[in-house]
Amino acid sequence: MNESKTVGYDARTTLPPGPTGRWLPTLRLVRNPRRAFESWAKQYGDPFFINALNGPVVITGRPDLIREIFGHEPDELGLFATGTVKPILGEGSLLMMEGQTHRRERKLLTPLFHGERMKAYGQTFRQVTLQHSGKMKPGQQFVGLDLTQNISQEIIARAIFGGQDEQTVAEMKTAARQLARNSSPLIFFSKRMQFSFLGLSPWDNFRRAQKRLFAALDREIEIARQAVAERHDILALLLRARYEDGSSMDVSHLKDELSTLLFAGHETSALAMAWALYHVHRHPEVLRELRASLDKGEDSPEGFAKNDYLKAVIQESLRLNPIVTEVLRMLKAPLKLDRYEIPAGIAVAPAAALAHYSPTTFPDPQRFRPERFLERSFSPFEYLPFGGGHRRCIGAAFANYEMAVVLGTLLRRYEFELLEKRDVVSVRRNVTMGPSTGISMKLCGMRG
Ligand code: HEM
Repeated sequence: MNESKTVGYDARTTLPPGPTGRWLPTLRLVRNPRRAFESWAKQYGDPFFINALNGPVVITGRPDLIREIFGHEPDELGLFATGTVKPILGEGSLLMMEGQTHRRERKLLTPLFHGERMKAYGQTFRQVTLQHSGKMKPGQQFVGLDLTQNISQEIIARAIFGGQDEQTVAEMKTAARQLARNSSPLIFFSKRMQFSFLGLSPWDNFRRAQKRLFAALDREIEIARQAVAERHDILALLLRARYEDGSSMDVSHLKDELSTLLFAGHETSALAMAWALYHVHRHPEVLRELRASLDKGEDSPEGFAKNDYLKAVIQESLRLNPIVTEVLRMLKAPLKLDRYEIPAGIAVAPAAALAHYSPTTFPDPQRFRPERFLERSFSPFEYLPFGGGHRRCIGAAFANYEMAVVLGTLLRRYEFELLEKRDVVSVRRNVTMGPSTGISMKLCGMRG
């Protein structure tokens, strides 16, 4: 059973063992990747191979192998399942670029999420949190994810389009939410599911939401062009930005990039914050410790960003519930991984959902224990909620700052109660995973 496979066209290339068939492993991967990975790693060893519907993949959670993959020559690591994903994201999305084009695009986008710009975002994070939480009444029951989504959608819409025009922010929030709602996992996992049927198929729903978003973006790009010199939001910066050869983004490219940022920039953080609310309220000792450290620190975006215990809570939450369970790299040349020589044309996938549960790296891995992040630091090959290597999440610093300010602001001000009676499990949304119930909560009131 555990025999490795020799690949037909080159006798030296071998693949690790793994489950047979395509449909069943893909279904298991879509439904519950963590459980599937765990059982395959147990049965076949790590790394293992699956021939998923959208392509063949070697998966690993071993830090030594993840180091090999993230450290590998970027030009030999391409994109996975582009045929399926490109019609969704568009070729002007950073997520769909590789090689030199990808490097050039990252160079242009990276400054938007780093350095001085981050300081300016801090006040937005805080104001938006206060505005949304301020609408809630003591005793009100709510879904944690609805609150964190409302907040993160507004934050990303304000960061991209500026906060001057409330109507634009509202329109973009709605368009982004509809796009997220209509992004069925089916269309991400199989090209065959991208078909039209009387305007009713998942693909039709997605296309309609995308059309609405693109129409809104067209209008907003035109408005931003009129005042580009005075504006400092991401859209204006992108309109002004020039590649090294002096050229700028055309409109279709700009729309793909803006919708990627809108989508990648809110869904992930909202899910991560909902999980963090769940975990801290399930662990009264953690909540006590967190509150004590928030009360001691400054009640400001910088104060929250500097709070090590809050940071550890967020890290531990992303460890237990990674929003993206694995990242994929398509091999353009053979790669030696462990005792296997993986051929070009097969993808390799570092899996956070496996690495984060290694008992060697994280003793008692099922337990929520933020202190582990204060006791030692973990390498980027042991802990990878934002992926790694040349494609590591470009918004990671933005997201970490956002999560610290939003959660710090909420937990310092309010007393909440968790209404979940059972364990909440992680379920697939699209490429992301999130809490099955959305996290039922109650606002008890302001803290004394
Ligand atoms: C908790 C929040 C977030 C999580 C867990 C997360 C996770 C990830 C992961 C796992 C990847 C793939 C990395 C890889 O392939 O190695 C990624 C890529 C990306 N993320 Fe995030 N992300 C978050 C927030 C954000 C935010 C706030 C933005 C934008 C404002 C953003 C924009 C992007 C973009 C544009 C990419 C593509 C990078 C590339 O291909 O070069 N993400 N993210």
